[in-house]
Amino acid sequence: MITPTDEQWERLRDRARRATTRSYAPYSHVRVGAAGLSDDGVVVEGSNVENASYGLTLCAECSLVSDLRRVGATRLVAVAVVAGDGEPITPCGRCRQLLYEHGGPDVLIDAGAGATPHRLGDLLPDAFGPADLGLRATP
Ligand code: THU
Repeated sequence: MITPTDEQWERLRDRARRATTRSYAPYSHVRVGAAGLSDDGVVVEGSNVENASYGLTLCAECSLVSDLRRVGATRLVAVAVVAGDGEPITPCGRCRQLLYEHGGPDVLIDAGAGATPHRLGDLLPDAFGPADLGLRATP
């Protein structure tokens, strides 16, 4: 398991803060930015993108996962998510599932400077994942 240093966490937080400036949140006015570190050392980013049809909103983590694939990075090891005030957000339920697919239970989720990061497996215990598809498919 790769554990980022305090300095790497701070850099991820800064990238997430910068990503909030590119958020599109005209409805909730909650800007969200996310930054993730991949196991091959690439930093990816995402911002929330809302929609007039509210339910179609894309969370910042969703945009981050798209960025991960777009740049050809592989697995996530650490993710920081912040709101427009620069303070950490713990990913919503749907985003926990999205992140799980691309990093599994060992992904570390920032809890803020000086706080112990969360393990995704603790935020989403007994997760349904890719392995379950093969195990549970019926003819
Ligand atoms: N939001 C995220 O981007 N990520 C989360 O994990 C929680 C919520 C966004 C969605 C919406 O644009 C705004 O925050 C308010 O819910």
